[in-house]
This record gives sequence, C-alpha cells and structure tokens, in this order.
Amino acid sequence: MASSVHSSHSNASVLIFLFVSAILGSLSKVVLAGNFYKNVEITWGDGRAQILDNGKLLNLSLDKASGSGFQSKNEFLYGKFDMKLKLVPGNSAGVVTAYYLRSQGSSWDEIDFEFLGNLSGEPYIVHTNVYSQGKGDREQQFYLWFDPTANFHTYSILWNPGHVVFYVDGKPIREFKNLEPFGVPYPKNQSVRIHSSIWNADDWATRGGLVKTDWIQAPFISSFKDLRTNACVWSNGVSSCSSNSTSDAWRLSQELDSTSQKRLKWVQRKFMVYNYCTDINRFPHGLPLECTVTTKS
Ligand SMILES: *[C@@H]1O[C@H](CO)[C@@H](O)[C@H](O)[C@H]1NC(C)=O
Ligand SMILES: *[C@@H]1O[C@H](CO)[C@@H](O)[C@H](O)[C@H]1NC(C)=O
Ligand SMILES: *[C@@H]1O[C@H](CO)[C@@H](O)[C@H](O)[C@H]1NC(C)=O
Ligand SMILES: *[C@@H]1O[C@H](CO)[C@@H](O)[C@H](O)[C@H]1NC(C)=O
Repeated sequence: MASSVHSSHSNASVLIFLFVSAILGSLSKVVLAGNFYKNVEITWGDGRAQILDNGKLLNLSLDKASGSGFQSKNEFLYGKFDMKLKLVPGNSAGVVTAYYLRSQGSSWDEIDFEFLGNLSGEPYIVHTNVYSQGKGDREQQFYLWFDPTANFHTYSILWNPGHVVFYVDGKPIREFKNLEPFGVPYPKNQSVRIHSSIWNADDWATRGGLVKTDWIQAPFISSFKDLRTNACVWSNGVSSCSSNSTSDAWRLSQELDSTSQKRLKWVQRKFMVYNYCTDINRFPHGLPLECTVTTKS
C-alpha cells in the first residue's frame, strides 16, 4: 500500500518534472541561476556554510568561534543581481549578514547590502555603501516595511555604466549615479564577485555597538535562495556581453523612470535612518561632491 502510493506519487513527479523542464529548458539562464552548487563556492566557516535542498537553499551560520561565507564562482562586470534572504530571527543583536559585490586588490570597488540585527521585535537596519577604488564612506541606512526574518524577500543590486540601484522586493531604496563628469569616482572598470557572509559585529552594528551579541542564542542562521544573475560574465579580460547588444533592459536603464523615482522618494522619506549626505558634522570640510552636485532628476 505504502509502496503503491509512493510509486504513483513518483510517476506524477516525473511527469511534472518533465513538463517543467520542457518549459524551463527554453529559459536555461534562469534555471541555472537557481543552483548554489553550480554558481557559488563556500569560502570560509569550516562547515558553518551549508548548501541544502539540492542546491536551492544556502544557510550561513555564526557561533562564538566563527562566522561563514560564500562567493560566486563567476566574476561580473555590470549586471542585475537578485537574491532572496531570510535573516536571523529572534535576538540577532550584534550579528551582521552581508550580501555585496566586490572586486579584488587594494583599490577595490564594492557595492554593499549589510543587514544589522537587533533584539527580538526591534527593527533590523539595512546598511548600504558604495566604494570606488577603495574609498567608501557613502553609507545610507534604512528600516524595512516588513519583518525580514519571517519570510524570504528579494534584495537586488543593479549596476551598469549609468548608475547603481539597490532594490528591496523590486522597490528602489537607493540610487548612486555615475557622476564621473563631475569628478566623482564610479565603480566601472573592475570585475566583481558576489559575496555573502555572516559575522559578529557587536562593536558597532546594533544601536551603534551598545547591544552585544547574546551567544546563548547561537548558532545564528541566515538563509539564501534564488540567486539570479542577469549580468555580463567577465573572464580572462573578456566580457560575455557584446558592447553593441541592446537586448537586456537592465543594461539600458541608466536612469530610473518616474514611477521608480516616486517609489524611491517614498522609501527615503519613510524608512531612511541615516544618510551620509546630510551628516554635516562628519564632513567639516564640506559634504562629498556627489551630495552637492545637482542633476536633472
Ligand atoms: C580603473 O580606473 C581608474 C580611474 O579611472 C584607474 O586609476 C585604474 O587604473 C583603472 N583600473 C583598471 C584595471 O583599468
Ligand atoms: C534596534 O532597535 C533600536 C530600538 O528600537 C533602534 O533604535 C535601532 O535603530 C535598531 N536597529 C539597529 C540595527 O540598531
Ligand atoms: C536552514 O535555515 C532554515 C531557515 O531559513 C531552517 O529552517 C533550517 O533548519 C536550516 N537548515 C539547517 C540544516 O541549518
Ligand atoms: C555588433 O558589432 C559587431 C561588429 O562590430 C557585428 O558583427 C555584430 O553584428 C553586432 N551585433 C549587433 C547585435 O548589433
């Protein structure tokens, strides 16, 4: 009885599998993009980073001895990167989960999402930064309009020659424009990998370091799924994107449309916690150039 139920169940599964494969075969880019075994390598954490569920899920774990992390196998020069994250639940004070793009070397480029944990019931902060040639100091921080520990949500980075945009569930929360013509360095000529990690940052993360990590709650686990890269792979100095191809929308959208601009303003008005561009005390010799340049939008 049990075995006949099992076998009819698996026949149905095979049919569904074939059907879905047939549909997805024509979208192989998307299908391949979901598998962590194929797309990433664990970089540290001595077993604390685990690929699960046939490559569909990745858990990063932190305890008193160590955090953990992974990176993409490929390098990219421009792209749209989406990942779903479910952050450490409960008391996550002091714990930071990060998801970022970063190049190598001492004058690296970097585009960061960092999720700063908090006491149970207190809000996470989404911390963002953009480095060009080793120089960051461009932090903006936000609260979220949902509990990021209850479900998976999509966090995206769009990076093309015109701008960097951070998205949460498709809503833009921050835009960093290419203002090179005004003398502001822009990340543009160094290929990056996608990185994620979890670590202890209780010297600064929660209420500026006042609330410490409670190790009794360890291990702290953040989960990742559905990494999608619609990006130019960079390999041996050659890009997978031809410079004259205009097929991908993300490559063309070098400005936010008016709907996106409205959403961005809404998020910034309601959820922004910190903006380096308004932190006059921090920059006694004047705000960074990109904060004062006015462009048409
Ligand atoms: C990237 O551009 C910067 C400034 O435009 C330059 O200093 C640096 O050498 C360039 N790096 C590469 C790898 O081309
Ligand atoms: C943690 O909660 C406190 C109190 O609500 C809040 O001030 C702070 O911004 C929250 N987030 C972090 C990461 O400190
Ligand atoms: C991975 O994380 C999920 C929560 O997102 C949890 O339910 C599951 O138990 C974790 N798996 C392992 C092996 O730690
Ligand atoms: C791109 O340019 C190359 C040569 O410059 C040309 O052979 C190719 O057809 C072009 N591709 C497209 C999509 O325009």
